[in-house]
Amino acid sequence: MEADEEKSYDLIRRHLLKTRGFDISGYSRSFLARAVRKRVGRSGCRHAMEYIALLRKSEDEMNELIAALSVNVTDFFRDTGAFEALTEQVIRPLASLKVDLGWSTLRIWSAGCATGQETYTIAICVAEELKKSEKGGDLVVRIQGTDLSKVALNVATQGVYSEAQVKAIPKDILSEHFTKDDSGYQVSPSIRRMTRFSEGNLLDSPSQKYIDLIVCRNVVIYFSRPMHDVLVRNFHTALRPGGVLMLGRTETLMGSPRRLFDVVDHENRIFRKSESEQAAFQASDDARVDVSDSASKRFT
Ligand SMILES: C[S@@+](CC[C@H](N)C(=O)[O-])C[C@H]1O[C@@H](n2cnc3c(N)ncnc32)[C@H](O)[C@@H]1O
Repeated sequence: MEADEEKSYDLIRRHLLKTRGFDISGYSRSFLARAVRKRVGRSGCRHAMEYIALLRKSEDEMNELIAALSVNVTDFFRDTGAFEALTEQVIRPLASLKVDLGWSTLRIWSAGCATGQETYTIAICVAEELKKSEKGGDLVVRIQGTDLSKVALNVATQGVYSEAQVKAIPKDILSEHFTKDDSGYQVSPSIRRMTRFSEGNLLDSPSQKYIDLIVCRNVVIYFSRPMHDVLVRNFHTALRPGGVLMLGRTETLMGSPRRLFDVVDHENRIFRKSESEQAAFQASDDARVDVSDSASKRFT
C-alpha cells in the first residue's frame, strides 16, 4: 500500500513537472498526501491510480490539483506598514520621476499574485499617489499579476471579494475603489484597467523585461534553495537597471545571487537591482543550478 502510494505520488510529480513545469519535489509528503487524497475524493475516483488516469486527460482536474497544491493565502494590504514603505520609498519617487521626465509607462509585476489582492493593493497605492500629481493622469500604469494557479487567477480576474476579504482595507479606500453589490465588493474599473492577470511559472525565463518594480511576497519561502536561485536570477533579468524588488517580511535573498541586488530597506525586504556588472556576472556564474535538485524548504 505504502509503495503504491509512493508510486502514485511520483507519477503525479512527474506529470505536473512535464506538463506544467510545476515542481512539487520540495513539498512535504504529508502535505502532498492531503492534497491528493482530497482531489481523489472530490473527483469521484476510487483510488490514486484511477485519479492519475483522470489527471492525464482532464485539464480542469489538473487546474484543481494545482489549486489544492498551491498555498494561496493572501490579503489586501498584507503586513502592516509594508505597503506604506513601498509607497513612500518606491512608488512615490518612481511615479514622480516618470511624470517629470515624461516617461509614459510604469511597469510593475506582482509575481505569485494568488487571487489578486496583492496586485490590486499595489494598483490602489499607485492610484492614490497619482491623484496627488497634476500630470499623474498622463502615466500609463501596467501591473501584471502572474501565478501558477488558474483557479486563483480566475478569482483575480473577476475582482470580486467578500466582506471578510476586504476587512483589512481602510474604509475610505474601500469606498473609493470598490463598489458593493449582491456578489460582494467589486474592484473599480479604474483600478482594474491598470491590472492584467496571466498564468506563468516564476521558474521559467521571464517573458517581460524593463520592469520598474517586482513585488513577490510570500512565494520564495516555499521554494527550495536551487529554485530560489533561479527565481532571483529571473527577477534580475526582468528588471530594468535600478529596478526594485520587494519580498515578503519573512523572506530574504540568499547566497551568491544576493549580490545581484543592493538592500534598500531590510525590514520591509526592499532591494534594488545592483549596478555592478561584476556582481551580476559572478552571481549568475555561481548560481548555475539544477532546479530539480530540491533539497527543500517545506510546505508543512
Ligand atoms: C502564499 S501565496 C502569496 C500571495 C501574495 N503574493 C501575497 O503575499 O499575499 C503564494 C502564491 O505563489 C504561487 N506560486 C508558487 N509557486 C509558483 C511558481 N513557481 N510560479 C508562479 N506562482 C507560484 C502560488 O500558486 C500562490 O498563489
